[in-house]
Amino acid sequence: MDLASMDYDFNSTKQQFLSHQRPPPTARPSVLIAITLVVLVLVKKVLANKRAQRKIVDTYGCPIRELPMDTRVMKFAMSQQISEQGKAVAGDAPFMIRNGRSRELVLTKPDHIRSFYKGDMKHHPKPPYLNMGEYFKRILGHAVGAISGERWSMIRRYFDPEFSFHVARQSGDQFKSIIAQWVKDLPRYGVPVGRGFKLEVQGPCRFLPFQLVSQHIYGQVFSEKLFDDLLSLNTLHEVILFDVILNTRLTSKIWNWFDRSATRRMNEFNSKWKKFNMDIVNTARRENLNCPAERIFSGVDKNEMKVEEFLHTLDEILFANVDVSSALLNTLFQHLAANPTIQQNLREEIALYKSQDPNDQSQYMSKTDTLLNFVVMEGMRFSPAFAFSLPECTSTAKEIGGYHIPANTPVVIDAKRLNGDPDSWGKDSDEFRPERFHELPISKTRCQFMRFGVGAASGRCLGKNVADLIFKLTLMTVLEQFSLHAVEDNPEIEFRPLEA
Ligand code: HEM
Repeated sequence: MDLASMDYDFNSTKQQFLSHQRPPPTARPSVLIAITLVVLVLVKKVLANKRAQRKIVDTYGCPIRELPMDTRVMKFAMSQQISEQGKAVAGDAPFMIRNGRSRELVLTKPDHIRSFYKGDMKHHPKPPYLNMGEYFKRILGHAVGAISGERWSMIRRYFDPEFSFHVARQSGDQFKSIIAQWVKDLPRYGVPVGRGFKLEVQGPCRFLPFQLVSQHIYGQVFSEKLFDDLLSLNTLHEVILFDVILNTRLTSKIWNWFDRSATRRMNEFNSKWKKFNMDIVNTARRENLNCPAERIFSGVDKNEMKVEEFLHTLDEILFANVDVSSALLNTLFQHLAANPTIQQNLREEIALYKSQDPNDQSQYMSKTDTLLNFVVMEGMRFSPAFAFSLPECTSTAKEIGGYHIPANTPVVIDAKRLNGDPDSWGKDSDEFRPERFHELPISKTRCQFMRFGVGAASGRCLGKNVADLIFKLTLMTVLEQFSLHAVEDNPEIEFRPLEA
């Protein structure tokens, strides 16, 4: 068979077909013009976006400084180095970092933060899936912390009431009994020393907030068996998060398809997570149990919240943010062990408040001018939730730190540098000195202190009331029973039982 002639035949058939399809001669130029216009508009938009991204200059036309490497992984694993390199290349000015294909502006000073939030705090969009890519999207991409605008407000409408100060306080008695048991079990993790023991608190601190927040969110449905199931889900979740951060190929859709084992893990987690939570909601309904997660699910019943938004936000609450609280508990114990005077003063304050009202410490918990509150705040100054905050974008063009920043530029905050800046906190900024908050009202620290957010978003953390309660109750319970002592050249802490 003559392949060339076949080809010829085919082409002629195609030509005949096309000639039948041809539009009337008058319509042709207008279709072409329309297509050309659409293409031109698209190209212009892409170029404008690229130009806007590329050209950030100050008032003299000097371009902003930029770190030369991809900081996507380093932001999590080597945050201190990025912070130091940023300071070395840009001094006190903002600078740019690269996160895969996107670029992010890093803010380091209270003035930058003031300018960033000025006038439009509520309208800062988040970059798609926080610039973390496809694999992240599948596990946390629809969580409240990853989105903005109307969907953010709608999700918060269902979650906020369950995390209010009042509702957090109702979990107080259950928290106290879990914490009491945790303190009782502490010696098991340590090595006996005299009448006490010594241990690295990081280990036992790891799962206490996890257990307390699970208790809070699942209410009367929560049980030891459920907690065991959560712990095994956490093991799988850790592997997936590891991939989210370190396996940069999984940021692309195509690689997600090719990497079958990563996809399998993700599918397994997502289906187990859904079943775990749906079983809880159904049990609460069937047995008429008090369960915040069930009440939040009414948003899905009403078709306002997507199941994905419900599940991803629960994931963010339990697996992502609770780690932050464990790190902070560890920081608090380390600093108290190294500062016997602060520890003793705090113990005396606790005893005083307890003697005033032995059965109800909720007043004490809610007071902001106590040493207990100052200690927790100073802990957060040293141990912010993220070394670099999650990105959110400028909504309009702005001037920040002398640079013209185009609209829609992703922005992150170097929280460690901000919280330790001697210009804001004084020469003793690297000293653990809770009393500084006595001299410096919290209202004055809004833009210099990354705590539960910063600037106009300073209280945005959904879990702030629950987290605050966890830290305060845990410190009270431990300090009433033990004095803490730093072990020289060792991360361990010695726990000595107090005389009755
Ligand atoms: C009980 C533990 C905690 C839970 C359940 C929790 C939950 C959350 C959630 C869901 C968000 C996303 C909020 C949103 O964008 O709408 C968030 C944001 C945040 N949380 Fe927490 N959190 C906890 C503990 C903490 C602690 C201890 C800190 C500080 C050391 C902290 C600092 C932050 C910060 C800085 C943000 C980002 C706020 C922003 O986007 O401006 N969180 N938290």
